Amino acid sequence: MSEQPHVIHRKDYKEPDFIVEKVELVFDLDRDITNVKSRLFVAANPARGTGKGDEVFLHGEDMKLLSVTLDDARLASSDFTVDAEGLRFVAPGENFIAEIETQISPANNTRLEGLYVSQSAFCTQCEAEGFRRITYFPDRPDVMATYKVTINADKASCPVLLSNGNLIDSGDLEGGRHFAVWEDPFPKPSYLFALVAGDLACVEDSFKTRSGRDVALRIFVEHGNEDRCDYAMDSLIRSMKWDEDVYGLEYDLDLFNIVAVSDFNMGAMENKSLNIFNAKYILAKPDTATDMDYELIESIVAHEYFHNWSGNRVTCRDWFQLSLKEGLTVFRDQEFSADQRSRPVQRIKDVAQLRARQFPEDGGPLAHPVRPDSYMEINNFYTATVYEKGAELIRMMHTLLGADGYRKGIDLYFDRHDGQAVTCDDFAKAMEDANDADFSQLKRWYSQAGTPELTWQGDYDADAKQFTLTITQKTDPTPGQPDKLPLHMPIAVGLLGADGSDLVAKTVELIQDRQEFVFDGVGQKPVVSFNRGFSAPVNVMTDQPDAELVFLMGNDADAFNRWEAGQKYATRLMLGAIAGFEENGGDADSALDATGESVDAFIAAMRATLLNNDLDKAFRADALVLPGEEFLSEQRKPANPEAIHQVRKALRKRIGLALLADFANCYHQNGSNAAFAPDATSAGQRALRATALGYLVASEKGEYADLAAEQYRTADNMTDQMAALSVLNHLDHPGRADALADFEARFAKDGVVLDKWFALQAMSSRDDTLARVKDLMSHPGFTMRNPNKVRSLIGAFAVGNPRAFHAKDGSGYAFYVDRLIELDDINPQVAARLCAPLGKWAKYDADRVGLMKAALERVLAKPEISRDLYEIASKSIA
Ligand code: PHE
Ligand code: ZN
Repeated sequence: MSEQPHVIHRKDYKEPDFIVEKVELVFDLDRDITNVKSRLFVAANPARGTGKGDEVFLHGEDMKLLSVTLDDARLASSDFTVDAEGLRFVAPGENFIAEIETQISPANNTRLEGLYVSQSAFCTQCEAEGFRRITYFPDRPDVMATYKVTINADKASCPVLLSNGNLIDSGDLEGGRHFAVWEDPFPKPSYLFALVAGDLACVEDSFKTRSGRDVALRIFVEHGNEDRCDYAMDSLIRSMKWDEDVYGLEYDLDLFNIVAVSDFNMGAMENKSLNIFNAKYILAKPDTATDMDYELIESIVAHEYFHNWSGNRVTCRDWFQLSLKEGLTVFRDQEFSADQRSRPVQRIKDVAQLRARQFPEDGGPLAHPVRPDSYMEINNFYTATVYEKGAELIRMMHTLLGADGYRKGIDLYFDRHDGQAVTCDDFAKAMEDANDADFSQLKRWYSQAGTPELTWQGDYDADAKQFTLTITQKTDPTPGQPDKLPLHMPIAVGLLGADGSDLVAKTVELIQDRQEFVFDGVGQKPVVSFNRGFSAPVNVMTDQPDAELVFLMGNDADAFNRWEAGQKYATRLMLGAIAGFEENGGDADSALDATGESVDAFIAAMRATLLNNDLDKAFRADALVLPGEEFLSEQRKPANPEAIHQVRKALRKRIGLALLADFANCYHQNGSNAAFAPDATSAGQRALRATALGYLVASEKGEYADLAAEQYRTADNMTDQMAALSVLNHLDHPGRADALADFEARFAKDGVVLDKWFALQAMSSRDDTLARVKDLMSHPGFTMRNPNKVRSLIGAFAVGNPRAFHAKDGSGYAFYVDRLIELDDINPQVAARLCAPLGKWAKYDADRVGLMKAALERVLAKPEISRDLYEIASKSIA
């Protein structure tokens, strides 16, 4: 980057001057020099009043342009101009055919945007702006065209040739080459284009849609991985069925392909009928994947499939509208998982994610609205805010309209906009029109950044049998938004009587800064269960007494709020002890004692949860996990990573010691001799047992470390092995080295699995972790060119090991910045994502503020810094 990148504003949106109705592409595939010929059927856009003689602009980057031909007349080089952004020429008429020939080099494409090579296969990634690295094109989502794609390649190394839509022709060519022609009848934006060519194995199944269409389902993987596709295929079939049942949406082609690749910037991509996945989210068998991997595979396969309607059939007008497809599709996949598994457990996981990733974003220098107003690099806006907070916004619409009203709105949205590129306003309008609703205030959630803070106060009038709940809301300023308006949100409230049952269960609508809600016929002073199910994505500031939290933990009819009460109690306790730790000079145990009896009361409540056989095991496992170090550091200013780590560890030890017998029982009762099955019930049992093992080891009674080592050796599935290894990982026990060595030997050739091994070591709380991470950089299985490797070793160090990353001497930051600088030349998109942890400096003490800002300065001083990394680093330092 030679000059400051320019900022793109939402308010500057203009329709395209020229559109492309039809594209014909011919690829001559070669790793070093691939030739791309395109024929574009271009038309002036009547809405823009353009025509003959006007300038046509086509995006294009990092390609060699060989020729431009307009209506069969080849242009002289003086008849067009090319710069770093694209190609310009004059329109020969209102409608014309442009033929463009380019050359690109897939093998040298380390950014993994456009056409690149992963292992032995060619593949593409075009969202958001990768198509412009393949050929010159109006690479914006409001230009929708039909595609006909011819792929020529070497037959021996690329027997499989895939693109979007239907295969209409194929055959052999001279010189050991062959070809395939694909045609996609549905007009689509360029970001949904895909091509894959390689020597891949294929697993096949089929699905009959509700109107009787037979759809062939194929998953392509590297040879040898055919036995790891069952769960992804099963998830795909269940997603197709669910979308028919719940949304009335049916698949629209006869073929649906999924390809798993090892090198991928993100999780997966919804290209029309040719989803491309990070192999991590496809490959699973019991001895290589954990229950968490299975869960992620199920939800991501569903997410990409659901995009066929929410994203592809109806797409985004411009990238500011990204949440139109992503927020909606995340909400859809969350609900799918809730229906497939346990609804409350799913909600707990989703909220924990939101709090761990989105709330910090919304409270930091990178805060932006669900529908951003500006960006330098759109790749930087695939964020927790656009995805997860966007999903919360859709969920609130669902809550406000009810399931039937929501479905009416969805039906109208798809009827009205099928085949179009639309906006978040269009979505909200369909919801309103179908229900005669007014979302004018609710829509502020699209434009206003920041997490609202709610406080509530209850007043009971025994004579009138009335309970008055007063709620106030406020949102702190965020960058560029000093003043905030009140938001509209549903708040689900329960009022519990002394026997624990609901006296009242109701959802109220908060619209004002301060609002009173009166509940009549309340016969006794109730305990309040506030924001049940996390009906609004807010921080609730009101503290309830310990005794009420214990009561809610044991009685709340809303399982989410049972969990929430426990988390609140644990957070309060640990925050108290962290303050004590800082005052007493570093003794976590006496800091816990100084908080007095509440520790015992808390442990008793945890015990009641552990022993309550009415609660499902997955829920109990979640409820027994203490809030994490990252979450705690969000709650304290300045955050002291050492204090947080030591206090949490000491509390875990206390719990482990106090409930030793209970955890030992739980551990032994929840073993299983049955063959591994990935279903939610079996997974819940394993999760509870893993939690028990974790606490047994936390007790620091030596025999339990032996038990963990034993579990690693005898387990017949990856979930149990990882459970054992993740507790051993922090210890000085000989079982740790043995287990790690065994793991490395078994999975040396298995990239997806070896990533777990890298991440574990990066997250170890041992003192030698940074040195070990540095060593692992030269491990034969590691490369900076593979995003999964980078995330497993480098990313996990920053995010999963706050204590080492934030080491007082700055060694963690120094190491990290070197990696960012190195990575920026290879893959700017991934480098920019990894930069975010450095932006959290405002949470820390003065020394760390200095070190973290200096680290960001060093990033910004990098010569030729990418636009991606520049945007994140410069905004983070402000
Ligand atoms: N659109 C993808 C999804 O959410 C994410 C993605 C974005 C993948 C950009 C690659 C590049 O499913
Ligand atoms: Zn998506």
